[in-house]
Amino acid sequence: MRIPLIAGNWKMNMTCESGKKLAKAIAEGIGDTDVEIAVCCPFPMLFGIADALRGTPIRLGAQNMHWEDSGAYTGEVSAAMLTEAGTTYVILGHSERRHVFGESDEWVQKKLCKAIESELVPILCIGETLEEREQEQTENVLEKQLEMSLKSVAANNAERIVIAYEPVWAIGTGKTATPQQAAEAAEFIRSWLVNKYDNEVSEKIRILYGGSVKPDNASEIMESEEIDGALVGGASLKVEDFIGIINF
Ligand code: 13P
Repeated sequence: MRIPLIAGNWKMNMTCESGKKLAKAIAEGIGDTDVEIAVCCPFPMLFGIADALRGTPIRLGAQNMHWEDSGAYTGEVSAAMLTEAGTTYVILGHSERRHVFGESDEWVQKKLCKAIESELVPILCIGETLEEREQEQTENVLEKQLEMSLKSVAANNAERIVIAYEPVWAIGTGKTATPQQAAEAAEFIRSWLVNKYDNEVSEKIRILYGGSVKPDNASEIMESEEIDGALVGGASLKVEDFIGIINF
């Protein structure tokens, strides 16, 4: 049985003081739940949010990292820095990294390997643009992103990875993939994983959906057996909305 994961991606939306309040309010509001919960915050907030989350079941995540251990990489942050701050998850290859900051599949692959080696849990984001969907290229795009990102990841390490299917056209737009579109993409990802690894490994990997997930669409999107949770942007900034999604 895969444990569902609801991860909030706070992006660049607040400073540490408001982040701490939000983290505490979420922790107070969740009650008993079988769902794993994480909040992924900007680098300077990691230590502060780790403090706010201490003693709660909510895990800490980061939104990016570099693949090198150290060196002259101005503006970058290493895996060891994330683990020192108490980080469990790291989002890699988010579409905003790929499309706004020009991150390549090759970079994502290097980051993924380093995250695994550093015992972080990578949340690997993949997804097609609207143009690619309209040209019926969705599966080709997902396949290429999976192939490139996971090319040197062995089966025993692959089990810990979380894959987030985030169609670029659904991110921050209020347009959600239909439950059928989300399910089809997740099924495609699962069958790709079966081919690359095997059934046993594939069954352990969690596949999330991300893109305008709200409390009122969360349960229908997560109805598919292949979808094991959500990566939530905008709605993770509001306590009631995020808790509403957790209680899907
Ligand atoms: P929204 O939920 O705001 O569409 O963002 C999704 C996302 O990018 C999560 O990583």
